[in-house]
Amino acid sequence: MSTPDTLPEPAALAEQKIWDLPTRVFHWTLVLCFAGAWLTAESERTQLLHLTLGYCAGALVLWRVLWGVAGSRYALFSDFVRSPAAALRYLQAYLPGNSLVAPRRYVGHNPAGGWAVLGLLALMAAAVASGWWAYQSGAPDAAGEVHEVLTHALLILIGLHVLAVVATGFKHRENLVRAMWTGRKRALPEQGIRSSQVLIGLLLFAAVTWLGWALYAGRLPGLTT
Ligand code: HEM
Ligand code: HEM
Repeated sequence: MSTPDTLPEPAALAEQKIWDLPTRVFHWTLVLCFAGAWLTAESERTQLLHLTLGYCAGALVLWRVLWGVAGSRYALFSDFVRSPAAALRYLQAYLPGNSLVAPRRYVGHNPAGGWAVLGLLALMAAAVASGWWAYQSGAPDAAGEVHEVLTHALLILIGLHVLAVVATGFKHRENLVRAMWTGRKRALPEQGIRSSQVLIGLLLFAAVTWLGWALYAGRLPGLTT
């Protein structure tokens, strides 16, 4: 029998492992790469760092697609990609006037969050691809404009993402940001994942660090010159 993926409220439950280490390493290194790429975007002096952090963000997205088909339970696309109708039904509980309707609590991503994850990944990939295109084309032109529009759209989606994380946590009285850091959430014992995949998480961190070093040190000249 399959275990349920929703729960009424977390209050009386013990914490279980939910987010594996690769998913957490992916999330927080992506946040660092995006923030770093943003802060280094304006100046000529920091351009190599901008390209390095941007490419690392791109590599992380590629990795996440793989992990979405080969990772642990809550990292799988099949766990959190649901129909648009399911996402709209979920969001109804957040409409003004519906404050007494409790949205169902999901242990993994909720149906609306699942679409946000896909949107964030797709827009991040498009931002990186357009940055590459702008870099190849050299002089400021249409590619640079497209890159700027896409990165600004991504910033807006990230703002909505953070607002949604705070709002959902507030509804269910749980700290989702802490859960994305520790990997643990209140859930039924049978809902927990068996392994945090620590080795794969550490390898992912080492691989991104290596890629960043290699790009910045000019070891992958095809991408940075
Ligand atoms: C560069 C900015 C950010 C990007 C691109 C981003 C992207 C993502 C992605 C792709 C996921 C899905 C994780 C997965 O399944 O692999 C996610 C989940 C999550 N993010 Fe972010 N994020 C960003 C910033 C933040 C920040 C600043 C916070 C904290 C305030 C945050 C909190 C979370 C939480 C708590 C989840 C899990 C949501 C849930 O419980 O379903 N994110 N984020
Ligand atoms: C997370 C990924 C990235 C973010 C958030 C980002 C952000 C930005 C932003 C905001 C600008 C506009 C700066 C301004 O106001 O003038 C910019 C410019 C630029 N970025 Fe990125 N970028 C990313 C990835 C990349 C990548 C991977 C490359 C190249 C391989 C790249 C190459 C460029 C270039 C060449 C410009 C100047 C464009 C022009 O003015 O014509 N970016 N980036």
